[in-house]
Amino acid sequence: MAQIFDRSSNALARASLVLTGLIVIALGVTLDQLQRSPWVTRQGQRPDQPVPFSHKHHVQGLGLQCQYCHVTVEKSSYAGIPPTKTCINCHSQIWTNAQLLEPVRSSWATGQSLVWTKVHDLPDFVYFSHEIHVNKGLGCSSCHGRVDQMPLMYAQNTLQMEWCLDCHRNPAKNIRPTGEIYNMAWESPAEDRPVWCSVGDEKSGLPTAQSVNCTTKDPATIPAEVASLNMPSLLRTAALVSDAGTGVTALNQYHVEYQKFTSQDELGHFLVDHYKIRTPKELTSCEVCHR
Ligand code: HEC
Ligand code: HEC
Ligand code: HEC
Ligand code: HEC
Ligand code: HEC
Repeated sequence: MAQIFDRSSNALARASLVLTGLIVIALGVTLDQLQRSPWVTRQGQRPDQPVPFSHKHHVQGLGLQCQYCHVTVEKSSYAGIPPTKTCINCHSQIWTNAQLLEPVRSSWATGQSLVWTKVHDLPDFVYFSHEIHVNKGLGCSSCHGRVDQMPLMYAQNTLQMEWCLDCHRNPAKNIRPTGEIYNMAWESPAEDRPVWCSVGDEKSGLPTAQSVNCTTKDPATIPAEVASLNMPSLLRTAALVSDAGTGVTALNQYHVEYQKFTSQDELGHFLVDHYKIRTPKELTSCEVCHR
């Protein structure tokens, strides 16, 4: 056969093999990119909604708290979307004739809920719960971004497995004091932006995160009575009860020691310890999210 195919066709065959290989790789890379692209994950997209509801106006402009509308975010897996009644509380008086709000009024009149398009939507085979994240010091903005600056809602992150795992492998880099979870403008501590934390009596029966008390104001400048008033209420009651009879002066005797943090690394590791966060190995095992 050697005389039929000369040397050049041999080279040609080799070249075409290499070419096929390259095409396969390129295809693989493209599909992988596609799978992660905003087109598939819908990251950053603003879907059409029955009403162009603006978080920017209602949160930043009017100063409404997230829980005013997302009432179950701390105690259930779902944050929840508010019913029409919540809008009507105000919009029976404000902007009552606006065309934009017609769907809200007719929903109220007919009793038919508004149908909002989900912006974040995990597949059914993934287990997720707001309750644990929020109670262990993950702020809304760590996962949803600056909602207070969004005229229309969009997903800041992909919600893909890799995104979840990236945090589960090292939660310390994202954890903040639980008192700051609704603070949209929260920034990690720094030399010129320290955070002070004290640890209460962990045997008091409080949920772990609640026995830690953090502040962004130098506790040395806060009078002792106020510092102890800032303590979790159950602890305070315990302090008062144990000193019953001596009254307010007892508060002064309650000694609170604060530790100062000037980097996310230090604060994160302190909180991971005191909030009793599981190890990365435990948090990345498949059963955590696929039950
Ligand atoms: C006045 C009521 C109201 C307040 C206050 C409010 N929201 Fe919302 N939120 C809504 C409504 C209505 C929707 C559904 C429409 C939409 O997606 O824009 C929504 C949707 C969302 C979604 C996307 C839901 C989805 O479909 O995936 C997130 C995330 C969210 N809100 C976070 C927040 C955060 C964080 C705050 C506080 C900074 C907040 N919201 C304050 C009413 C409110
Ligand atoms: C606490 C009162 C309050 C609640 C609750 C409230 N709104 Fe509003 N809303 C306002 C005010 C005030 C304005 C006018 C804001 C402005 O012009 O800056 C407004 C404006 C609007 C507008 C006009 C566009 C804009 O953002 O300026 C829309 C649409 C709207 N609201 C929808 C809703 C919906 C939907 C809900 C329920 C999920 C809701 N609002 C709940 C007070 C409220
Ligand atoms: C650890 C990341 C994370 C944090 C922190 C977080 N969320 Fe979410 N949020 C998600 C994910 C993931 C979804 C999609 C859940 C699904 O599809 O089942 C979601 C969905 C939502 C929704 C849509 C309705 C629902 O419950 O599914 C709202 C509203 C919402 N989040 C509000 C908030 C608010 C308010 C906070 C802060 C108090 C917050 N989230 C904190 C990740 C987070
Ligand atoms: C920014 C950090 C962060 C992100 C992002 C994040 N998590 Fe978590 N997750 C945590 C922390 C911290 C805990 C609490 C661990 C503990 O208390 O041991 C946790 C706990 C959990 C738990 C355990 C709940 C339980 O009751 O055992 C599940 C399930 C979970 N996360 C699912 C997810 C999923 C799914 C995603 C992505 C859609 C996600 N998480 C994204 C930080 C994060
Ligand atoms: C922290 C939560 C979390 C953990 C831990 C986790 N997954 Fe996932 N997994 C997810 C999420 C979220 C998705 C959905 C991704 C999407 O919608 O693109 C997913 C999707 C998947 C899929 C579907 C294919 C895909 O990539 O979309 C498979 C298969 C899977 N996971 C296997 C595993 C295995 C095996 C483990 C253990 C080694 C594991 N997962 C651990 C959150 C997790």
